Amino acid sequence: MASIFLALFFHFGFLSTLVSAISFDKIQLPKNATGPEALAFRLGTLQFFTGVADGRILKYRGPGNGFVDFGFAAPNRPKSICDGTNNLNPNPVCGRPLGMALHHQTQMLYVCDAFFGFGVLGPQGGLVTQLSTSADGVPYRFCNAVDVHQPTGNVYFTDASAVYDIREQEAAVIAHDSTGRLLKYDVKNKQVTVLFWNLPGAGGVAVDEQERFVLVSEFIANRTRKIWLQGQRPYRSEIVNSLVMPDNVKRTMILDNFWLAGATARVMQSNLLPVGVRINGNGNVLETVNLEQWYGNKPVSEVHEYGFKLYIGSRSEDFIGVIKH
Ligand SMILES: *[C@@H]1O[C@H](CO)[C@@H](O)[C@H](O)[C@H]1NC(C)=O
Ligand SMILES: *[C@@H]1O[C@H](CO)[C@@H](O)[C@H](O)[C@H]1NC(C)=O
Repeated sequence: MASIFLALFFHFGFLSTLVSAISFDKIQLPKNATGPEALAFRLGTLQFFTGVADGRILKYRGPGNGFVDFGFAAPNRPKSICDGTNNLNPNPVCGRPLGMALHHQTQMLYVCDAFFGFGVLGPQGGLVTQLSTSADGVPYRFCNAVDVHQPTGNVYFTDASAVYDIREQEAAVIAHDSTGRLLKYDVKNKQVTVLFWNLPGAGGVAVDEQERFVLVSEFIANRTRKIWLQGQRPYRSEIVNSLVMPDNVKRTMILDNFWLAGATARVMQSNLLPVGVRINGNGNVLETVNLEQWYGNKPVSEVHEYGFKLYIGSRSEDFIGVIKH
């Protein structure tokens, strides 16, 4: 009976479930830190890294141990000017770390800073070593998200736009900018390659377990694209989801599923509901978690499954939400 149900469930992907969470906790950021956009966990621990609005990368040392400053991407970042600033319009002098992902085997933390491009930070933290600030002669204006393919160490990242930076995000949306790119950092030869051009607001990125494809969210087009990694560039691709304003995409550790953080438009109303949506690699919606109860109409940037919980990042809050469901 159960197996028949499961078979049906996986066959008919449209049988999505709207799950209500059973508990919600907050991991409060340190005083004056806001906007934990993305999370990178240290495997086997409850420790994680997150970038905040004032340009710092913080390390959470687990329950009871709180946060410490870990790193930053802006060279010469003036601490006295930057620390504690919670401007939604981030200051380029301070940097704005967005995407981050750990390569577990080497403990290297790959970082996308909205102003300082793509880089890496070792276990000691400090200043991010810049690895790339442009590709094919076009600078990154809005480095946004990173994912590591663990077995190979290859890194996939996005630049949301070649024209608009993070402070001009609204203008980019209004103009239907589509100059975002998907990039790959080959860890062996240290080369960056543009894999895909003309993405409208390349936001999140996640590579599947076998490195066959990546999912890239396009926040300007309200959709998520699956880009196959074989054949000729630009690779074959297809739209697999139409969530509104999707941000980060995070692969789950089991089943090769993915969590999208985004919103759904409420019928007959203009406001958006923040949601997390779990899809499989074909885009079938397996689960939807409504986050309105805790986030109101504020956007969420990441839904990250780790150890049977969902950790929620948001550029507009000063905490990380933790959901047991
Ligand atoms: C930090 O927050 C306190 C209130 O909690 C505020 O008085 C202070 O101005 C803030 N500092 C900065 C640098 O924003
Ligand atoms: C994306 O969704 C928002 C909210 O529903 C809507 O206002 C906007 O026009 C959509 N954009 C596109 C390109 O469809």
